[in-house]
Amino acid sequence: MPISQLLCFLCFLTSLSFSDGTQLIIVNNCKESIWPGILGTAGHPTPQEGGFHLPSGEQLLLDVPENWSGRIWGRQGCCFDPSTGKGSCQTGDCAGLLQCRGLGGVPPATLVEMTLATPKSALHFYDVSLVDGFNVPVSMVPIGGSGDGCGVAACEADLNVCCPLNLVVKKQGRVVGCKSACLAAKSDRYCCTGEFANPKSCKPSVFGHLFKAICPRAYSYAFDDSTGLKTCMASRYVITFCPPNLG
Ligand SMILES: *[C@@H]1O[C@H](CO)[C@@H](O)[C@H](O)[C@H]1NC(C)=O
Repeated sequence: MPISQLLCFLCFLTSLSFSDGTQLIIVNNCKESIWPGILGTAGHPTPQEGGFHLPSGEQLLLDVPENWSGRIWGRQGCCFDPSTGKGSCQTGDCAGLLQCRGLGGVPPATLVEMTLATPKSALHFYDVSLVDGFNVPVSMVPIGGSGDGCGVAACEADLNVCCPLNLVVKKQGRVVGCKSACLAAKSDRYCCTGEFANPKSCKPSVFGHLFKAICPRAYSYAFDDSTGLKTCMASRYVITFCPPNLG
């Protein structure tokens, strides 16, 4: 091999192993298809044009840029026209599009939220949030990683089966989602907005407590930072829909 080609090859290898971004491994362990939706926080890109189909038992490697911030959620029961990419989903729908392209999902939907460092802090923050309700169990787990707060962010239980009647969302006679108290009541008290927008006066509702009891490693209400929010530094994370119970 000529020396110039060899150097080029070495520099290619170096760029692979010192890539600045983070790799997300998105796994569908559910019995049915999931259509993950992705949304970059304002000022951050949205990978995969914001959505894709992930058949049962499959996974997708997603490389996000350095210091990426955004959210990923699962959509279920989707049906899209293959030629136009238009259709609808029973949960997490984004204007009936396969690729959400900057749109969020309709709640209730379990959200995986992350900020993978900022110019001011090298720490990665991530959580699985039930603040906008629940539709599908999901977890986010670092591979290796350093820091005190590395751990499992998850709601592994199916909250749909124990959802209080007044919070249930049904499609075609089946419970597909469970609203949070904030989503159902849309009041400052339950959403921790207005005069309740601080940790002192924002207290978890009865449903916040219920969610927390069933999914202790999820972020169940605004300011639930103590156990819900993880901090770590890892180069790879696994996000699993319908994770096996991680114990
Ligand atoms: C990303 O965050 C790191 C750690 O805080 C910082 O040193 C770096 O400048 C940031 N990079 C960008 C592109 O913002």
